[in-house]
Amino acid sequence: MNPLKLRKYRPFTGITLPDRKWPNQTLTHAPMWCSVCLRDGNQALPTPMNIAQKLELFQTLVRCGFKEIEVGFPSASNTEFKFNRLLIEKGYIPNDVTVQVLVQAREELIERTVDSLVGAKRAIIHLYNSTSPAQRRVVFERSKSEVKLIAVQGARWIQERLSRLEGTTMTLQYSPESFSATEVEFAKEISEAVMDVWKPTPTRKMILNLPCTVEVATPNVYADQIEWMCRNIRNRDSLIISLHTHNDRNTGTAATELGLLAGADRVEGTLFGNGERTGNVDLVTIALNLHMAGIDSGLDFSDLNAVRTVYERCTGMLVPPRHPYAGELVFTAFSGSHQDAIKKGLAEWERGNRTVWDVPYLPIDPGDIGREYREVIRVNSQSGKGGVAYLLESQYGINMPKEMQREFGPVVNDWVDGLGREVSAIELKDKFEKEYTLRDCPFALQKLTTVDEDGIHRCWATLLVGGKERTITGEGNGTIAAFVHALIREQLVEPFEVLDYQEHAVDAGEDASAIAYVWIRTNDGGQFWGAGVDTDIKRGPILAVLSALNRACSHLRQG
Ligand code: KIV
Ligand code: ZN
Repeated sequence: MNPLKLRKYRPFTGITLPDRKWPNQTLTHAPMWCSVCLRDGNQALPTPMNIAQKLELFQTLVRCGFKEIEVGFPSASNTEFKFNRLLIEKGYIPNDVTVQVLVQAREELIERTVDSLVGAKRAIIHLYNSTSPAQRRVVFERSKSEVKLIAVQGARWIQERLSRLEGTTMTLQYSPESFSATEVEFAKEISEAVMDVWKPTPTRKMILNLPCTVEVATPNVYADQIEWMCRNIRNRDSLIISLHTHNDRNTGTAATELGLLAGADRVEGTLFGNGERTGNVDLVTIALNLHMAGIDSGLDFSDLNAVRTVYERCTGMLVPPRHPYAGELVFTAFSGSHQDAIKKGLAEWERGNRTVWDVPYLPIDPGDIGREYREVIRVNSQSGKGGVAYLLESQYGINMPKEMQREFGPVVNDWVDGLGREVSAIELKDKFEKEYTLRDCPFALQKLTTVDEDGIHRCWATLLVGGKERTITGEGNGTIAAFVHALIREQLVEPFEVLDYQEHAVDAGEDASAIAYVWIRTNDGGQFWGAGVDTDIKRGPILAVLSALNRACSHLRQG
């Protein structure tokens, strides 16, 4: 970067708080939650939601367990006003849910906002005005005391109209918007001026929301600001301190978590982080981060895919594939070593030896949020033999011997590398079959008869060898030995040795078949695995021997 271009920037100067306490705190309980999906989220959409979409998302938020939902900005448009009225008049708001509405410090807007709430059981009126030096200078062109007057006047206009909302359990909320870029002393002064009007008490608290409207510094700076406010503001016990972070520097989650350590009680944010610019903090992430620490968030994301589907349908936004918890790929391991570790960790968990979740690379159990273990493994060119073996075993019951995994892993890697994309489980199985069980050139088995007389096994086999029929016979101390003897005696192949043989059932039910694996060493030292599947347990191993020989021949031809 040209240094001249950097000259126009200055680092944000945080406050001095050498005895800060928040770094030594830990999170022990969930905050109060408020979803601002229908307001902050909605105002950031290229096409804002219509009433039906807002209602569907509202009902989903209720099902997730949100007890405070900012439903809109009723003075901003007819749709917003009508949505409030619909919720109230049609009884869509459960008794334990409080709707929140946002308003600026302007009398006519406050008037309309109060109108929009008549008949609600519980409501929060959220007053805001911006307080940072840039906003005071550029937007308001007013001094600190003039900006303070805006807030105080707004608070009074609301106070004067509360009698019209008798029957509604009311809470009042004030936000010094752009708090994170405001001098803390001024944020305290303006907030206390609003408190002087609303007169909160420990039993009738007001919400003081301290937004990180735009991230301008590292998250520890925001935590210092929150701790400073919690320590210095008057009548702290009459306040619910609320956080509202945006994600300009991609640290909204960190800022919120550190803000909670610093003493905040409440968190505003949106599902999946939709919101102005880079978005609001994602409440799913904050809640599931608590879940990961064994803390009940009070929110229900046990079917996260369903929540995501509604969110995407209503907002038209997409959850990116790497998005924490909800993204398509977050429970998918591509690297072989990750796949192997996950496979072992899940096996250990399923054996029930552990009571505490500690599966490598899976910080939470995907099942807790309705996602499936099956999503964990896919195969791409970075997948190792462990991942390939896991997929074949978990999806198709093909349990390759360890040595065979070492042979098949690189075959898959080369193949997927050439394709330049990841492959599905079914494609992988096709590849396995092409590589092993469907090999019939130059040797294909036509017919096999075996007898066992006093431990001597005899076999008669009819083969197609390069298209020509040959019948061979041999004997040995087992079926494989008899067949190998027949092949060598009839000089169909050079002498070779069988190094290993394994077999297991693959299908349940009546026509259960078995898969046999045979490992051979040819007389030039080459080692090849073969596999054969058949319902006749005598034929499977013979097919596996031919599969290994066919692979050896193909190797010779390629060599
Ligand atoms: O980001 C913000 O500061 C806001 C306020 C209105 C609370 O959305
Ligand atoms: Zn916001």
